[in-house]
Formats: sequence, C-alpha cells, structure tokens
Amino acid sequence: MPQLFPKKANTLPLLSLGASLLGGVLLVFLVWYYFSPEFKVVGYQPDQPVPYSHQIHVDKLGMDCQYCHTNVANSKHANVPATETCMTCHSQVKENSPKLQAVRESWANKEPIEWTKVNHLPDYAHFSHAAHVNKGVGCETCHGRIDQMGAEGVYQAEPLSMGWCLDCHRQPEKYLRPNDEITTMGYTQPANFVERNLDRIRNRGIQPPTNCSACHY
Ligand code: HEC
Ligand code: HEC
Ligand code: HEC
Ligand code: HEC
Ligand code: HEC
Repeated sequence: MPQLFPKKANTLPLLSLGASLLGGVLLVFLVWYYFSPEFKVVGYQPDQPVPYSHQIHVDKLGMDCQYCHTNVANSKHANVPATETCMTCHSQVKENSPKLQAVRESWANKEPIEWTKVNHLPDYAHFSHAAHVNKGVGCETCHGRIDQMGAEGVYQAEPLSMGWCLDCHRQPEKYLRPNDEITTMGYTQPANFVERNLDRIRNRGIQPPTNCSACHY
C-alpha cells in the first residue's frame, strides 16, 4: 500500500473533509433522486398490472381511442377504461388467458385495476384534453405512436415541459390537423397544411394562450 499521507499528519481534518465531500455528493444524489420525478422523462414506461397492448387493440383490431378513452373530448382528463370495457370482449375472447388473470380478478372482486399513470403534469400546471382535441390537436402529437406500443405498456413520448407546450402555443399552424383525424395514428399532413391551418386559425379565432395565468392559477 503506498503511503498517501505522512503518518504524522493529523487524519481527523482529512477524514472530516472526506466525509463532508461524500456527504455533499450524497446529498446532491438524494435531492436529484427524490426531486427529479421519473415521469418527466421521455421514455418513462412504468410496469403495468396487465400486459395490455395498444398495438394489438388499436393497430391489429382497429379499435378507436375513444372506445376506451371515452372522456377525452369532453373533459379535462382522459379516462383509462373500466374493467367492464375489457370484459365486454374478454368474457368470451381469451377468457382463460393467464395474461388476463388480473382483469378477471378485478371483475370478480369489483375492484378497479390499478394502472400506473404514465404522462403526468405537476399540480400547478393546468391542462385540459377537451380544449385541445376539439381544436385539432391529435393524440399522436402529444403521445406519439400509441398504436405501436405493445404489451410492455405505454411510454411517455414527449417532454410535456413548459417549453414544449409553448412551442406549439406560439405556432399552432405547424401542428393542427382536421378534427376527424384527431385519433389517427401515422397521420401525414397534406402539402399546403400550414396555409390551411392559418386560415382555420383566423376563421375560428383559435388562440392558444401564452400568458402565465392560463396554465398556472
Ligand atoms: C381497448 C381499450 C383501449 C383503446 C382502444 C385505447 N387505449 Fe389507451 N389505454 C388503455 C389502457 C387499459 C391504458 C392503461 C395501461 C397503460 O398505460 O399501458 C391506456 C393508456 C393510455 C395512455 C397512457 C395514459 C397515462 O397514464 O398517461 C395513453 C396516452 C393512451 N392510452 C392513448 C391512447 C390512444 C391515443 C389510443 C388510440 C390510438 C388509445 N389509447 C386506445 C386502453 C385503451
Ligand atoms: C373489442 C374487443 C376487445 C376489448 C374491448 C378488449 N380486448 Fe383485449 N383482446 C381482444 C382480442 C380479440 C384479443 C386477441 C388478439 C390476438 O391475439 O390477435 C385480445 C388480447 C388481449 C390480451 C392478450 C391475451 C393473450 O393471451 O395473448 C390482453 C392482455 C388484453 N387483450 C387485455 C385487454 C384489456 C386490459 C382490455 C380493457 C382495457 C381489453 N383487452 C379490451 C379484444 C378485446
Ligand atoms: C396537447 C397535448 C395532448 C393531446 C392532444 C392529448 N393528450 Fe393525453 N395527455 C396529455 C398530458 C399533458 C397528459 C397528462 C395530464 C395530467 O397529468 O394532468 C395526458 C394524459 C393522458 C391520459 C392519462 C389520463 C389523464 O387524463 O391524465 C390518457 C389516457 C390520455 N392522455 C389519452 C389521450 C388521448 C386518447 C388523446 C387523443 C384523443 C390525447 N390524450 C390527446 C397531453 C395530450
Ligand atoms: C401541438 C399543439 C399544442 C400543444 C403541444 C399544447 N397545446 Fe395547449 N392549446 C393548443 C390549442 C390549439 C389550443 C386552443 C386554443 C383556442 O381554443 O383558441 C390550446 C389551448 C390551451 C389552453 C386554453 C384552454 C383551456 O384549457 O383553458 C391551455 C390552458 C393550454 N392549452 C395548456 C397547455 C399545456 C399546459 C400544454 C403542455 C402540457 C399544452 N397546452 C400543449 C395547442 C397546444
Ligand atoms: C401553455 C401553458 C403554460 C404557460 C402559458 C406557462 N407555463 Fe409555466 N409551466 C407549464 C408546465 C406544463 C410546467 C411544468 C413543466 C414540467 O413539469 O417540466 C410549467 C412550469 C413552470 C415553472 C416551474 C419550473 C419549471 O420550469 O419547470 C415555473 C416557475 C413556471 N412554469 C412559470 C411560468 C411563468 C412565469 C409563465 C408566464 C411567463 C408561465 N409559466 C407560462 C405550462 C405553462
């Protein structure tokens, strides 16, 4: 072992310096760990109690988002479907599948399935689905290709940060699509879409707010 410090050096200040450095690092780590909410990270994909796949139900079976997320056009919150919605099919389809065990238990015990929320805003930021989907903002714009998300569950596709919200609020013409394409996945805009959107924005008086109190109140 090489001697790093002469034997007669008083080790106490060194030790306490080391300890406080370590403590500092630890503190920074803890603050970072506890206060950096996982849900802000693009790609956040929590484990879910059922290996439900949007890829199967949306892409393969062709179901519309609003079959399950029934509130999305008329309320602030998009709901996750009740067990009953699953059981309309799964009382007859794949009715013995082990992958649906938790769904059957939920149905038998009349207890909702505890899905883990993926996309999440802090309480001090207000957001309404209805305000967006009725004005031509597609699910895909904010949630990505949900139709390609499989049994590992949904992941957060966009940052959902203030800068991200404002980027669209300042130039909505770059993002809006016709109202009947809101739930379409893989939508491609026509060549002249920016002019069309500018017309629509003018005619309908669409004006996404950029003042603080619209989102923070
Ligand atoms: C058959 C029912 C069903 C259909 C159809 C469906 N979903 Fe879902 N969706 C669910 C369930 C169940 C969950 C909760 C499990 C999960 O997050 O993986 C969910 C979760 C989500 C989430 C994540 C919610 C959160 O916690 O942040 C988004 C976003 C979403 N769906 C969007 C869509 C979109 C967009 C469509 C249409 C392209 C769609 N869903 C179609 C059942 C459905
Ligand atoms: C409209 C009918 C319908 C509804 C509603 C429905 N499913 Fe399905 N689901 C199916 C069909 C059909 C399959 C089989 C598809 C395949 O294997 O190609 C399936 C497959 C599954 C599987 C995979 C089963 C296996 O053994 O591979 C799971 C898990 C599942 N569904 C969960 C759910 C959940 C959870 C809900 C409610 C949020 C739901 N489903 C709502 C029709 C439905
Ligand atoms: C302008 C962006 C935007 C659009 C468009 C949008 N969402 Fe969301 N979605 C969000 C945000 C942000 C959250 C997190 C909200 C929160 O935590 O308060 C969210 C959350 C969700 C959730 C979880 C439940 C909830 O309300 O927190 C579901 C399910 C969902 N969205 C489905 C959809 C579907 C289906 C569509 C299209 C019909 C859609 N969203 C369109 C931004 C959007
Ligand atoms: C891709 C475009 C887009 C994105 C992303 C987006 N918005 Fe919007 N927002 C709009 C449009 C369009 C309107 C409708 C303006 C109108 O009705 O005149 C709107 C309206 C609003 C309103 C006013 C209506 C109401 O609910 O009171 C608020 C608040 C709002 N958005 C908050 C948010 C927040 C918070 C986020 C980020 C989490 C966000 N928006 C992300 C386009 C967007
Ligand atoms: C279109 C909606 C919207 C508007 C307008 C808006 N904010 Fe925010 N703000 C948000 C969202 C969403 C978050 C949460 C961001 C996150 O979780 O990463 C946020 C977060 C914040 C935070 C917390 C720190 C941070 O950056 O995460 C502060 C402070 C803040 N906003 C101040 C303001 C001020 C001041 C204004 C006016 C100049 C303003 N906001 C306008 C949506 C908005």
